[in-house]
Amino acid sequence: MTYEEKERLAACALRARKNAYTPYSHWAVGAALLAEDGSLFPGCNVENAAYGPTNCAERTALFSAVAQGKRKFRAIAIAGGREEEEPSGFCPPCGVCRQALAEFCGPDFEILLVKSNAETQLHTLGELLPLAFIPESLK
Ligand code: THU
Repeated sequence: MTYEEKERLAACALRARKNAYTPYSHWAVGAALLAEDGSLFPGCNVENAAYGPTNCAERTALFSAVAQGKRKFRAIAIAGGREEEEPSGFCPPCGVCRQALAEFCGPDFEILLVKSNAETQLHTLGELLPLAFIPESLK
């Protein structure tokens, strides 16, 4: 990702985080998924009274993008922390979201953890989900 793309993704994730619906955990997460063609898909976590149906921010962004016809992605930015506060640290993606991303994204897919516009940490999917079970694994 270029410096400008990082800035754009971080800002989008922080903005999406404001829409998080978190009456149970009070932990608000925002994500911004960058498609190969440069389009950007925001997501937030959406919780549920039955807990189990809760959707993470990353999967909200991913499923929204797929629903709009995108299947190739370059990067995702993630920002999380206690609701109504600025993030106090980095929020890494949960295991389910790593697996969901691995369905469409290769090991070089970039994962930008965002504490603030100025404080970010860059990882790759290959680093966070080594030896992933992917579509090719079924062949
Ligand atoms: N959450 C995310 O949205 N993304 C993650 O990768 C970590 C967890 C959400 C799920 C739940 O609504 C809240 O954060 C606390 O786990």
